[in-house]
Amino acid sequence: MSAEIIYGRELSNNIRERMTDEVAELKKLDVIPQLTVIIVGNDPASLSYVRGKEKASNSIGMDSNLIELPEDTNQEKLLELIHELNVDPSVHGILVQLPLPDHINEDVVIETITPEKDVDGFHPVNIGRMMAEKDTFLPCTPLGILTMLKEKNITIEGKHAVVLGRSRIVGKPIGQILLNENATVTYCHSRTHNLKEMTKQADILIVAVGKPGFVTGDYVKEGATVIDVGINRIDDGSLTGDVDFESAKEHAAYITPVPRGVGPMTITMLLQNTIKAARQLNE
Ligand code: GUN
Repeated sequence: MSAEIIYGRELSNNIRERMTDEVAELKKLDVIPQLTVIIVGNDPASLSYVRGKEKASNSIGMDSNLIELPEDTNQEKLLELIHELNVDPSVHGILVQLPLPDHINEDVVIETITPEKDVDGFHPVNIGRMMAEKDTFLPCTPLGILTMLKEKNITIEGKHAVVLGRSRIVGKPIGQILLNENATVTYCHSRTHNLKEMTKQADILIVAVGKPGFVTGDYVKEGATVIDVGINRIDDGSLTGDVDFESAKEHAAYITPVPRGVGPMTITMLLQNTIKAARQLNE
């Protein structure tokens, strides 16, 4: 068997077309969804990510505002800025790019963003709402994965989902989201014993471990759906996932590539969350 490849980029383009219409409709009501992104310092990879977010926002007719702060910005100043953005009616989404410099406490920063504008879905209130199965902003990468599965009509209910990795941004929330969709969920991580025995049981295997090519074909059950969340830059400068694509695709029924897989969906979901925030703030 050779798997069907799920290209997030193509799905993203279709979703962004729909969102362009939604933004145009909101503009008729004098609402222009606006995303403000704050970056502290000048890490080139982070700068490139945030510029991608700005470009994507503008490509569907949304407004965006990129605030670049120097590396030595103190926490108080950053919190003051967030407080101002929280009450600015022209701002619907606030995203502080992570990681932040060591002298700034990320948790305090995340908790200062008002949950109504937390389009990253990182605020504890929004995490709690996700756990309680209330309407909320789901974090963008897990929401992108869920959207991919749904767009491909891949059954989640009753299936065994195995999540490799337990990060706050991806692993933990995607497990909870799939549980909310009635999957049976197993979390695996660096201390898990007999990892291969676990992954071989997965109907849906989510891999977010940050190790290039970690999951090879012998970790994959025949007919599984394999979602690769890894983005690793290897020695030759190219990007590669956490899954050894060539061997895994011989066992999987569906598989996402890296690049052009989950990555593009993440930004699209950020735009979707910002449109949702703009709607809710103007109800
Ligand atoms: N850094 C890497 N990914 C993300 C993300 O999804 N949100 C934020 N705020 N920072 C990030």
